[in-house]
Amino acid sequence: MELNILTICYLVASVTFILGLKMLSNPATARKGNLVAAFGMTIAIIGTIFLYKNSETGEGLHNYGWIFGGLLIGGIVGTLAAKKVKMTAMPEMVSLFNGMGGACAMLISVVEFNHLSKELSAGMLDAGSIQPTVLIIVLGLVIGSVSFAGSMIAWGKLNGRVKDFSFPGQNILNLIILGAALAGAVYLVIDPAQSYLLYVILVLSLVYGILFVMPIGGADMPVVISLLNSFTGVAAACGGFLYDNKVMLTGGILVGAAGTLLTILMCKAMNRSLANVLIGSFGGNSNAATGGGKKEQGHYKEISMADAAMVMAYANKVMIVPGYGLAVAQAQHTCHELEKILNEKGVEVFYAIHPVAGRMPGHMNVLLAEADVSYDKLLEMEQANDEFKTSDVVLILGANDVVNPAAKTDPASPIYGMPILEVEQAKNVIVNKRSMKPGYAGIENDLFFQPKTSMLFGDAKKVLQDLCAEIKSV
Ligand code: TAP
Repeated sequence: MELNILTICYLVASVTFILGLKMLSNPATARKGNLVAAFGMTIAIIGTIFLYKNSETGEGLHNYGWIFGGLLIGGIVGTLAAKKVKMTAMPEMVSLFNGMGGACAMLISVVEFNHLSKELSAGMLDAGSIQPTVLIIVLGLVIGSVSFAGSMIAWGKLNGRVKDFSFPGQNILNLIILGAALAGAVYLVIDPAQSYLLYVILVLSLVYGILFVMPIGGADMPVVISLLNSFTGVAAACGGFLYDNKVMLTGGILVGAAGTLLTILMCKAMNRSLANVLIGSFGGNSNAATGGGKKEQGHYKEISMADAAMVMAYANKVMIVPGYGLAVAQAQHTCHELEKILNEKGVEVFYAIHPVAGRMPGHMNVLLAEADVSYDKLLEMEQANDEFKTSDVVLILGANDVVNPAAKTDPASPIYGMPILEVEQAKNVIVNKRSMKPGYAGIENDLFFQPKTSMLFGDAKKVLQDLCAEIKSV
């Protein structure tokens, strides 16, 4: 009876994971999606703690002190961390939490192998019968350890504690280490009595995780984290196989699949292959990011605050293009303020959201949601590209690469082929940034030198505050 209720708990939890994931794909339902999936996870955890029975011994779980102690500490630390984290530090926190998932999978493998190993040496089991289980254990061990070590390095890079590090022949050394770990894993599956091999595989996998992430440019970390996230999902799915736990299996597969898809989508939106992200050092400290030296660009023109305010106040439709600089300046609230002031003057305002604007998936959606910008004001790239031709003004706030026409016109450009926001179709383009410095891709932007474009230099928050004041007085 209990087992049936537990199965229903797992079914309900699995359905909530799928629904939650689906709801996360739209900013309007994302918060609810998170809650739905968290509710499902709570049911799965409580169900397992109180209803699980071992199919052979009929025993339930014990060690309640450890279990609830862990839940309490994890719950408190997780809640505080999530409440305190700044939006710009979100990828860092995701990386840390993902690393914990990898570490869990790694430790599960060590613990379960030791159980098997003891029974094997006591003659209670024969080697042939445990080979499939050992295969699952070593898979979880390798993937979980790589994910743990890699995520810790990614976390260190994002918070500035770990610097990019590479040396000649590193990729070959990485392949040798991974090959050795996999060879050890195969040997252990063939002969599970060689228990020392488990620790050799563990160390090799950890070293591989570190060396694999070390040379990747800091700004490419979101893609790497997404990839490591998919690894953690697969490692958790191995745990699901190991314990014959359906909800762990479903959850792991969903995380693995979602992480893989997100990685592919991010690479596509940047028009780069995964191999280029992993070994290309693009966007890091490397010179590769400069895109091959400076071009002669001609002159750019500046616009005064009063003129910018005038053009916007008398417009019918203004499109705002938010980018990484808006997040750096933490100007999202002032940006929403500007939208309201313009609305009061009868100006229609929309936001054009590029899928990789900022530094993490959905960065701009989350940033603007923080400032209570209405979701129906946010236009996805295709929609926005249709709207630009009927817009009087496009105001670009700390965005650069996502509006760079070189992506369409210059086959030599590192961003060639990346879909962009075609802002030059609007009547006027006003670009706010602090200088003429390039953005993430390290390349110049022809848009800034086009006749329709005017530069409005300064920190996004200060500029927006001044714009609000000027427009009010128009
Ligand atoms: P970027 O091309 O990085 O440009 C941001 C611009 O903001 C910079 O040129 C900078 O110019 C300006 N800026 C910085 N601080 C500012 C401030 N306080 N006030 C005003 N402006 C400021 O940003 P983007 O257009 O959002 O493009 C994102 C890039 O990141 C793409 O190349 C994308 O491929 C990459 N990327 C994205 C992701 C995800 S998932 N979103 C992940 C990895 C990489 P100044 O220094 O002159 O001010």
